[in-house]
Amino acid sequence: MDRLIYVSTEEGIVSLWSSDLNGGDRRKITKERIMNTARPNRENNLVVYSVDVSRGRELQKIFFGDNSGEKEPDTLEMEPVRILGLLQHDKGVVYTGSSDIDIALYIGEPGGKAEKLYSSDKIFFSTDSWHKVVVGHGLLEGNPRSSEIFIYDLDTGQFKVYTPKRGSVNGPPKIYNSRLLFTSNYEGKTNLYTYDIDKDLLEPAKFLYDDYLKHDIKDYVNYGWTETGKIWFIGKTRGRGIVFYDGQEVKHPRGTPTYLEEHHGILYLTLSSFKSPPSIYRITPDRQEASPIISSILDDEIKEAFGETIFLKYKSFDELEIPCFIIESKSPKPGPTILYVHGGPWSEVADSWNISIASLVANGFHVVAPNFRGSTGYGEEFRLLDIGDPGGGDLKDIVYARKYAFEEGIADKVAIMGYSYGGFMTFLATVKEPELWSCGVAGAGITDWSEVYELGDAVFKMFVEVLFDGKRELWKDRSAIHYVEKLKSPLCILHPQNDTRTPLRPVLKYVLKLSELGKTFEMHIAPDMGHILTRMDDAMKILYPALIFLLKHMNMNDSD
Ligand code: 4NP
Repeated sequence: MDRLIYVSTEEGIVSLWSSDLNGGDRRKITKERIMNTARPNRENNLVVYSVDVSRGRELQKIFFGDNSGEKEPDTLEMEPVRILGLLQHDKGVVYTGSSDIDIALYIGEPGGKAEKLYSSDKIFFSTDSWHKVVVGHGLLEGNPRSSEIFIYDLDTGQFKVYTPKRGSVNGPPKIYNSRLLFTSNYEGKTNLYTYDIDKDLLEPAKFLYDDYLKHDIKDYVNYGWTETGKIWFIGKTRGRGIVFYDGQEVKHPRGTPTYLEEHHGILYLTLSSFKSPPSIYRITPDRQEASPIISSILDDEIKEAFGETIFLKYKSFDELEIPCFIIESKSPKPGPTILYVHGGPWSEVADSWNISIASLVANGFHVVAPNFRGSTGYGEEFRLLDIGDPGGGDLKDIVYARKYAFEEGIADKVAIMGYSYGGFMTFLATVKEPELWSCGVAGAGITDWSEVYELGDAVFKMFVEVLFDGKRELWKDRSAIHYVEKLKSPLCILHPQNDTRTPLRPVLKYVLKLSELGKTFEMHIAPDMGHILTRMDDAMKILYPALIFLLKHMNMNDSD
């Protein structure tokens, strides 16, 4: 049965849906909120997904359903784990899972019991499989500035680490027969390469067309093999994505495409932008036209709230050029502006759908969203700049973004806001640069690195070590708890109760200090919820109090 399988929040929770190839006969095929999904396999009707069984703590179990949604899903007997890569494999699943003790590769079948294949003290993600081979990548040398590929042989149990050059960064591999496709910076700039496992042959990826050479591709959103062994990729340039099929540019609306699938010669593409939530497009066979077959509908009122969207680069304290998006509302300029700090930190604000930014714009704020040093999308050299210095150079980039917003006549006052790493930066910015902000909104933030480390599971302990490049002596300087008395501006704190990435406990201690010191703050704990939003309700629990707070403290109460 030929069907499209896709993820949607159409009914308010993250679910798997299926439709016919025209986007008709749409059905929700999972009952619960899902977290991870394995890429469907053409040879069967199986859908493999994971569900959080820990009220947001990200400990998940795996289920096997089918693409009609009519079958009761089969289960896998397993220890619930944080999943770092979920793949269909023959009639079952292979996955990487992180627990309190290790990161490991597992295998399982519907109705069976999971078997641990390989255990590691390094961070690794499984990204693809082909019959007897599972591949992925991770920090397998333990070097925070490099990542290596692994090739696991299910027959022999051999876990082989591969890198084109020691110390290079190698992206998630995708496999077709014996050939891996992956990004690497081993020659300097990040490019796509293929590596033939059987022939031990590494080559630059080859394409029939060379349209991609006309663009300055800095990074890759995604890439893969088509059913006939051709290569597609989504290249990143100036904060947007372009799709290439065998090197040929595919025409599609402006924004950020995230995924492409080819079926019987027809391409299906997911794409969103600041002003349009994710939709699925079908591309004509000449690849010159894209028409939406499954789209999200946005109220005209919200669409019309957007002013101009500008991509620019400003100079930071050390002359480094920082890429930045300015998403203007229809409010006058200069006007109340939000400095939006993205999470990650190895992530970015691209021209893609962002519910926080859209909500801010719809409420009349201009948004300045810098891709501070350490952000993805602008090459590995730029991304690696925050390692060993989180809350240092990147925080200065944020301060210079604020300065830019005043100088360019965008802002008359600026609030700082972010979630996760952005929440961390908000906490730190409001105590280290207390004069600069009208107010701050810290969602799921970090106030004390040593306690976050203590409370983290295997992968998050390693994450903190990698981010700080092992410099534990920096933890204190980069933790707002040690500067709390310096806070001047009102602070709105939002935190999920069961967050296991940025735990609640250190933030509660922070709040206690704020209270003792008589600071102006409010705190909202979102009950029964974890770091990852899997319901529209969860998003409301975080965003609604933030917007009420901002409207009040940015003196926008007269606006509706
Ligand atoms: P993110 O979350 O910004 O949503 O990716 C993070 C969670 C934990 C840490 C950093 C970011 N950490 O370093 O512990």
